[in-house]
Amino acid sequence: MVQNIYDNEAFYSKYTALRNNELSYNEILEMPIMQELLPDINNKSVLDAGCGMGKFIQYLLSKNPKTITGIDISNNMIEYAKQHVDDDRVTFEVGDILTYQTNEPFKCIVSSLAFHYVEDYVELIKKLNELLVEDGILLFSTEHPIQTATKSKNPWIHDQSPYQHYKMDHYFEESARETEWLGESVIRYHRTIGTMINTLIENGFVIEKVVDHGNTELSMEMWDEETRLKVNQKPPFITIRARKGRI
Ligand SMILES: C[S@@+](CC[C@H](N)C(=O)[O-])C[C@H]1O[C@@H](n2cnc3c(N)ncnc32)[C@H](O)[C@@H]1O
Repeated sequence: MVQNIYDNEAFYSKYTALRNNELSYNEILEMPIMQELLPDINNKSVLDAGCGMGKFIQYLLSKNPKTITGIDISNNMIEYAKQHVDDDRVTFEVGDILTYQTNEPFKCIVSSLAFHYVEDYVELIKKLNELLVEDGILLFSTEHPIQTATKSKNPWIHDQSPYQHYKMDHYFEESARETEWLGESVIRYHRTIGTMINTLIENGFVIEKVVDHGNTELSMEMWDEETRLKVNQKPPFITIRARKGRI
């Protein structure tokens, strides 16, 4: 079953507030890494899979792409993106990435923090391969398997000091994890690091870079001690850049 939690109004309102916070994990940690690993998109076609509010698309526009297509399963997200991104090169579409069709494959596909919502990772990677031209780049971030593994509702252990440990359990059980986030029950899908990387390799991709998100100069400067401590203990996200190999 495809989840569309971002069309739940209470969740949407809390999420947009969080995503607009300049000190969010997205802005301080995740976006800078995606920006650093972005290939040259000058005069190229780009797909943003799970584009949400269009925040990354706003950045991509500064790199002179030919076209950008933003797809998201949530009406709310696409509506927000349309209201905030006004550029003839950009097209938005409501839809599930797994069923998206195009006549013209993309030179680059980016995706920020959307893939952990997709249950069938093999289907997803096959689909992305089909949507890319030969030598096209797939750049995505997703929740880190070290973070998604636990089935505990309270994953932090405050033993002798706050945020001393983050629980690691059920690592090899690749299945849905129901978590409480922004006041709602949200399903994310856990898969191991091996599955994440080998599925790419087995479906025609060449891995170019893998980044575990830890504290950076920026996060050390901008965040309070508690937030820095949490990120020191375990990576919240992983970013992978892969190239579609020649057949
Ligand atoms: C955490 S948000 C990230 C949004 C945006 N990429 C960003 O970084 O600001 C995840 C997004 O993925 C979208 N999403 C989840 N499953 C999807 C699917 N199967 N197809 C398309 N979009 C999906 C959600 O609706 C949501 O907007």
